[in-house]
Amino acid sequence: MNIEKRFIQIKSFLEAHIKLVNSEPLELYPDHLFGNYKLLVQELKTFKKYELLEIENQQIPQRKISSSLSKFLTECWGLYPVPQVHINKNYPLFSKRKVSIKKQHEIERLASFIIDQKPNTILDIGSGAGLLSMQISNQLNCQCTLIDQSSDFQAKGKQIIKRWHSHLGHNIKYINKFFDKNYSNEHGPNQFIIGLHTCGNLSNELIDYHLNFSTSKLVNIPCCYHKLNNSQINLSKFAKNNNPLEFNKYAKDMSAKSYKELSLRDFEHKLKVKNYRYALHLFRYENGDDQFTSLGKTQQKDYGLSFSEYTKKYSPDLNSISNLQLESFINSNKTKEQVLELICLGILRNQLGRLVELYIVLDRVLYLQEANKEVQLHTIFDRNLSPRNLLITSHL
Ligand SMILES: C[S@@+](CC[C@H](N)C(=O)[O-])C[C@H]1O[C@@H](n2cnc3c(N)ncnc32)[C@H](O)[C@@H]1O
Repeated sequence: MNIEKRFIQIKSFLEAHIKLVNSEPLELYPDHLFGNYKLLVQELKTFKKYELLEIENQQIPQRKISSSLSKFLTECWGLYPVPQVHINKNYPLFSKRKVSIKKQHEIERLASFIIDQKPNTILDIGSGAGLLSMQISNQLNCQCTLIDQSSDFQAKGKQIIKRWHSHLGHNIKYINKFFDKNYSNEHGPNQFIIGLHTCGNLSNELIDYHLNFSTSKLVNIPCCYHKLNNSQINLSKFAKNNNPLEFNKYAKDMSAKSYKELSLRDFEHKLKVKNYRYALHLFRYENGDDQFTSLGKTQQKDYGLSFSEYTKKYSPDLNSISNLQLESFINSNKTKEQVLELICLGILRNQLGRLVELYIVLDRVLYLQEANKEVQLHTIFDRNLSPRNLLITSHL
């Protein structure tokens, strides 16, 4: 993959849609159907539920679609592919006790990739309880230093070793500290640095540490882009010299949640959530509140309530409105149409989330390349199990 070329292609595509990238559909209301999106949304409104789900999951729709929708989708999805990493040999997890299916998959894949490279010592940053290092050390009998700021996660890891895997105790060393690029170099340059799902800026700190101390190898899978501020993206000179994009909170949130393949059940739940959320905001809008006010975190069980019960729970200032009036509002054809429009616009927008993630990660790859590192970008996890699956590897 030509990193510079892909970065520029993604940048140009996102730039053409930047207003949508940086807005919640509801925030755009009542001017949400701007530009070409009006036609695209009108078309999606005629789709059946399973057809909308196909789009949401980046499956080529079975029905015939217009050339403008086809152009939008094929151009966008055409920028997704990243080669899958080659793993020579799979080392099955030595213990699956109390490990979720998602975590089992992540650890088995990543540890197999790392074991193959026979590191002498490991520096595992943001290690959490340390299951990844346990798997590596169990196979290679190598020293692993695990750094995490959370003493709770580390206590959990120590407990697991004490109860079930005492043979690993002499190789696994927990250090309870905050890590950044200036973290002590006491572990020496021959470190193989790993970071599985290092949130937000922690990935950048790992990268800078790898560069500052010329450590032998870096293996990193980033996540939680919503925790980044704008000085923590566009790190490379290449991005800086090519009119870099800026992403707001909505765009970063979307990228951190993108590329998850939804089941029909997940999708139906999502539609229910959007239906209530959007209808409540539309009701407030019609009654003079034109500000987009967040409802806060709702619970799964709220979507078993009637709309009037839901409204009174999350907008107590509407207590004086009769239940009948609220139920008639959500059941009116006009509200149904408007809600569907916002949902369809949201589905189009969701296609851009993976591109925001790729933009952020490709910039990090370019930044490492500019420091003369040998850098590669692959996917490593099955998106159904773990959508934050981009793997950066870097060495001298
Ligand atoms: C998403 S968890 C990943 C845990 C583990 N690597 C895994 O995949 O199961 C991120 C971890 O990074 C830790 N962390 C975040 N920022 C950190 C920092 N600056 N220094 C040390 N630990 C940090 C958190 O406490 C958390 O345990």
